[in-house]
Amino acid sequence: MDVKSAIENRRSIRHFLPAPLDRETIESILDAGRLAPSAKNRQPWRFVVIQGSARDEMSACLQARLARAIKAGTGTGSAANTFRVMREAPVTVLVFNPGDTAPWTEHTVPQMVDTIADSLSLGAAVQNMLLRAQELGVGTLWIGDTFYTHDELCAWVGRDCLLASAVALGYAAETPPARARMALNALVEWRGSPPDSPLPGSSQGK
Ligand SMILES: Cc1cc2nc3c(=O)[nH]c(=O)nc-3n(C[C@H](O)[C@H](O)[C@H](O)COP(=O)(O)O)c2cc1C
Repeated sequence: MDVKSAIENRRSIRHFLPAPLDRETIESILDAGRLAPSAKNRQPWRFVVIQGSARDEMSACLQARLARAIKAGTGTGSAANTFRVMREAPVTVLVFNPGDTAPWTEHTVPQMVDTIADSLSLGAAVQNMLLRAQELGVGTLWIGDTFYTHDELCAWVGRDCLLASAVALGYAAETPPARARMALNALVEWRGSPPDSPLPGSSQGK
């Protein structure tokens, strides 16, 4: 599969088959993340692979968080559905930045700059993973709702840092249509025009 096909055919998958993924497949997806570019080559990613009985423990942690929100009368937003996906997916990869802390902790301005640069790097790593998974026929969901239960998940995993994201992995039990995208001309502003090509044999461009 070429990169263009992987980009065009990838979809967020929210229903998975129970079939497990073999370790080689998971490692190949993680390795695509490892190879991503990163600001100052900091490689600000650490991956914790959750499957089997650990998935049940993680799910209990997520459900306890939702139950607390419901009891307190606060909304759960999209988290309830995302946590259902995490319960269903055979594998969830939690993506940590060991050099950062939760967004609601104090950050100086230089730290904020690193946080933004690292977030871009982490996004590159996750996107590499999604595209490699697509190539391997594995469905994915990129998850940001981990922020809803950030501190509980960090405590459960035993890591005191930023839980930046998660990725659910498994074989898809659905084939969603492409979701809408804005047209390119609504996103792009062109400035200037390319220089004329030098004529063959002219001294231009030498
Ligand atoms: C940073 C980020 C966080 C996301 N978090 C969630 C999430 O928590 N739950 C969810 O169901 N989808 C989540 N998504 C998936 C988006 O909803 C999805 O990419 C978007 O609707 C476009 O659909 P597509 O991926 O099928 O093209 C997230 C995507 C990104 C890039």
